[in-house]
Amino acid sequence: MYSEIVAHTLSASELLSRNPKGIILSGGPKSVYADAAPRVDPQIYTSGIPILGICYGAQLLAQELGGEVVRTGHGEFGRTEMFLAEGAERSVLVSERPQASQVWMSHSDSIVRPPDGAVVTASTSEVPVAAFEDPKHKVYGVQFHPEVVHTSRGQEVLEAFLTGPCACRPSWTHTSIIETAVGDVRNQVGGAKVLCALSGGVDSAVAATLVHKAVGDQLVCVFVDNGLMRHGEGDQVEETFRSQFHIELVHVKAAERFFKVLEGVTDPEDKRKAIGETFIRVFEEVAAQVDDAGFLVQGTLYPDIIESGTRDASRIKSHHNVGGLPEDMQFKLVEPLRLLFKDEVRAVGEELGLPPEMVWRQPFPGPGLAVRIVGEVTPERVEILRKADVIVIEEVRRAGLYRELWQSFAVLPAVRAVGVMGDERTYAYPIVIRAVTSDDAMTADWARLPYDLLERMSTRIINEVPGINRVAYDITSKPPGTIEWE
Ligand code: XMP
Repeated sequence: MYSEIVAHTLSASELLSRNPKGIILSGGPKSVYADAAPRVDPQIYTSGIPILGICYGAQLLAQELGGEVVRTGHGEFGRTEMFLAEGAERSVLVSERPQASQVWMSHSDSIVRPPDGAVVTASTSEVPVAAFEDPKHKVYGVQFHPEVVHTSRGQEVLEAFLTGPCACRPSWTHTSIIETAVGDVRNQVGGAKVLCALSGGVDSAVAATLVHKAVGDQLVCVFVDNGLMRHGEGDQVEETFRSQFHIELVHVKAAERFFKVLEGVTDPEDKRKAIGETFIRVFEEVAAQVDDAGFLVQGTLYPDIIESGTRDASRIKSHHNVGGLPEDMQFKLVEPLRLLFKDEVRAVGEELGLPPEMVWRQPFPGPGLAVRIVGEVTPERVEILRKADVIVIEEVRRAGLYRELWQSFAVLPAVRAVGVMGDERTYAYPIVIRAVTSDDAMTADWARLPYDLLERMSTRIINEVPGINRVAYDITSKPPGTIEWE
């Protein structure tokens, strides 16, 4: 089912002009009694469109529609047992549940009286109103979080709301996403040429393939090989796009140019900037040679759009990716993945026939292996890291853990250590293995890899990668560490 996330400040008329079949008010960290507690345009309540409030959203409904929310002094956090109340048998949201079930709670205030006209359908030992419903006015509220995996059967609650009162049908399939995107791109672009910078990653690959489906030969893809890619990545891009999809591909082999600007650069931010700027220069040169290119494809995803509207975070690292081209390039942007989340992008990629290695590739940073080499980035050091990286990935795949891990890779620090190999003293670099689990890269945990897997990686790296005499495993989560070393 298609959904959009909008700010609570949207007016009722703006909201209704989008023709929603249902509205979900999300949870939030504030108390409904706090100064500047988020509210919605009150006309939304009387619009006749079904509304489901979750946690804070449910409290807001209670407060605004004649119920009562109080500060009880004791909240509920985490796993909680919920019991159905009398009246639950006629419930839309919870009637299919067992008498008691597990839900996930996270709140301090509590609803003590539901909105006027609503009946209480569930409670917990701490709160009398864990769920309420007013079918006549199509107002529903749950104090628990149906959207988290720890709420058993939480998905069913959402599904009941959407297919019941909202009368939505699950028609937002990957095929329909593709058809819609293809139609939109055709309308937008007309007969002009379209450029797309490929990175080897899933977003730009899916975006390019979609645009190609829409406008065929009008698309020209540009792949800048900066010499900082992993083993075989350039070949894979060429094989997939040029040979399999017959997409016009300009493969720029610019490694030397990148190594030149990286000479003597050791500061992580300077490295990132040097790589980002060189990428832009190279791309501009290629673009200038493509006659009447008026559009540029970007693999922007829905979370990027949400975040850019709300985020006020400090800069941890200057990110560079193929989307990071300057605005003064005078292109109009084509963003066929604007409405999609990562899992949808992957599903679309599979549907379009992209190779699984590309669709399921673990994220790889725009500045490539350079941000995994502490100190100066030279062709020799990149080669050492590339060899170690192949081993890490091969062994992770062999252990069946590749898709389970958010990322797994090797890092080359700038320190050296003493060792002994073949009765000889060595003084060489270590390799640090980094493997993390994460949902969105904002936070991450170091992966508890099996010891025998770590041992295999260590032995192979020492035996097969000249210049390495020691292997360490990074056991830092994020925070305090970041996923990449630079
Ligand atoms: P950190 O190291 O900040 O990384 O924890 C979070 C995620 O972002 C990836 N990353 C990048 N991706 N351009 C990108 O497209 C970049 O410049 C960049 N730097 C880091 C990193 O691999 C991790 O998945």
